[in-house]
Amino acid sequence: MQALVTGGGGFIGSNIARALLERGDSVRVVDDFSTGREVNLEGVDVEVVRGSIEDRDTVDRAMRDVEVVFHQAALPSVKRSVDDPGRTHAVNATGTLNVLDAARAAGVRRFVYASSSSAYGDTPVLPKREDMVPSPLSPYAVSKLAGEHYCKAFTKVYGLECVALRYFNVYGPRQDPTSHYSAVIPLFATALLTGATPTVFGDGEQTRDFTYIDNVVRANLLAAEAGPQVAGEAMNIACGERVSLNELLSAIAEVVGLEDFEAVYRDPRPGDVRDSLADITKAQTLIGYVPEVRLSEGLKRTVEWFS
Ligand code: UD1
Repeated sequence: MQALVTGGGGFIGSNIARALLERGDSVRVVDDFSTGREVNLEGVDVEVVRGSIEDRDTVDRAMRDVEVVFHQAALPSVKRSVDDPGRTHAVNATGTLNVLDAARAAGVRRFVYASSSSAYGDTPVLPKREDMVPSPLSPYAVSKLAGEHYCKAFTKVYGLECVALRYFNVYGPRQDPTSHYSAVIPLFATALLTGATPTVFGDGEQTRDFTYIDNVVRANLLAAEAGPQVAGEAMNIACGERVSLNELLSAIAEVVGLEDFEAVYRDPRPGDVRDSLADITKAQTLIGYVPEVRLSEGLKRTVEWFS
């Protein structure tokens, strides 16, 4: 099939593009390489449309003859959204609307949307289930949830088969460790590998359900192939277990082979969720999703890649 991966130069998008190619699909990527990186696609046989998802002409060009869209393009990072909520909204919410409308106009069969666990916010009940009322805390969370609502509306109003995958803290090879908006695992892994001191925001007792990239790629392929019953649905994609940041640091140090390390503790970040853990029953039932790579194995593969 002809697939379009928006944000195909990014961490998650480039991993999806590789998996699609491996199984014989034709892959087109649209990316403005603002946070995506060209090295992620080095030696990968994809057609690249260079430009922003905010630009309708670019998106229309990218959408030609496409059967399935994997919409991964976004400005990630809760912190970035706190610093510049307008940019985050423009790319994540308005950009998603743009891609959806182009997909509808082009007659796309299936639209798989990269949603976020941040939709749940700080509601006290764990694990998070999809029937809970969302309570987004940060501008980032609001922007991702807005995209999810647009997906639902496009299914209801236009019959475009949209599936939203609520990713829980994805990590793995090709995730950018170089920005202060980078995610915590690449930051901790590169710090411990290079003898630098990792920074923990808060007391380190906040918890996350870290999800290895291969599980997320697999979920995307399953969501693309599942029957029409998935249209208009949102589902958690996670590992289904949580660790605190302090436990995470120790686990990475162990993989790196450090007996002793230091960390600095700073004020918690505004917009940060305290605890996150997914119930993954819905994805199991609807698309047959099983998290094949657990945290210890995922950390091993990630540290290996970064070193
Ligand atoms: C949130 C979403 C996640 C989404 C991501 C996109 C939740 C629960 N998760 O991730 O699904 O993919 O946004 O950006 O809402 N931290 C440190 N030191 C650092 C960097 C981070 O202590 O150097 C802390 C953060 O303050 C946070 C935790 O580590 O408490 C995780 O941060 P991060 O990796 O940025 O992801 P989330 O914001 O949890």
